[in-house]
Amino acid sequence: MIKGIGIDLTEIERIHEMVQKHPQFVWKILTPAEKEQYEKLGGSRALEYLAGRWSLKESFSKALGTGIGKEVGFQDIEIIDNQLGAPIVTHSPFKGRVHASVSHTAVNVMTEIILESENEND
Ligand SMILES: CC(C)(COP(=O)(O)OP(=O)(O)OC[C@H]1O[C@@H](n2cnc3c(N)ncnc32)[C@H](O)[C@@H]1OP(=O)(O)O)[C@@H](O)C(=O)NCCC(=O)NCCS
Repeated sequence: MIKGIGIDLTEIERIHEMVQKHPQFVWKILTPAEKEQYEKLGGSRALEYLAGRWSLKESFSKALGTGIGKEVGFQDIEIIDNQLGAPIVTHSPFKGRVHASVSHTAVNVMTEIILESENEND
């Protein structure tokens, strides 16, 4: 059954400005495994990836119903692209299945997260 759904739309330039102002922002948002993927990318693709992770984590927090804060932080959620480029949630506080999707233009990134579970208590 569907336990939650979350969407988010983020301006890539806003993320760019945050990284320029505070380079440590990258470490706040990305887990070490995500940072490894990020560092293999260059230029605008790296920025898209970072904005995508930010947005996916915001979507996740909405699907869970908590927002990003005390209960769930950016480091509690990890999303790694598989060999085909699809985002796979490899770590999260949700016990069931987590489905993730990302789309971007030159300006915005949009993401969606669906939480699914066979167990009513998850
Ligand atoms: C909940 C949260 C993810 C919303 O994101 P946002 O970027 O502020 O706003 P968005 O436009 O994407 O989303 C707003 C909508 O989220 C929804 N929303 C708010 N709280 C929610 C919650 N706990 N669960 C699910 N959805 C929620 C509402 O529908 C809201 O729309 P409304 O204002 O018309 O009612 C946000 O409050 C949050 O946790 N942000 C963390 C950001 C952060 O840590 N910044 C630090 C900067 S370094």
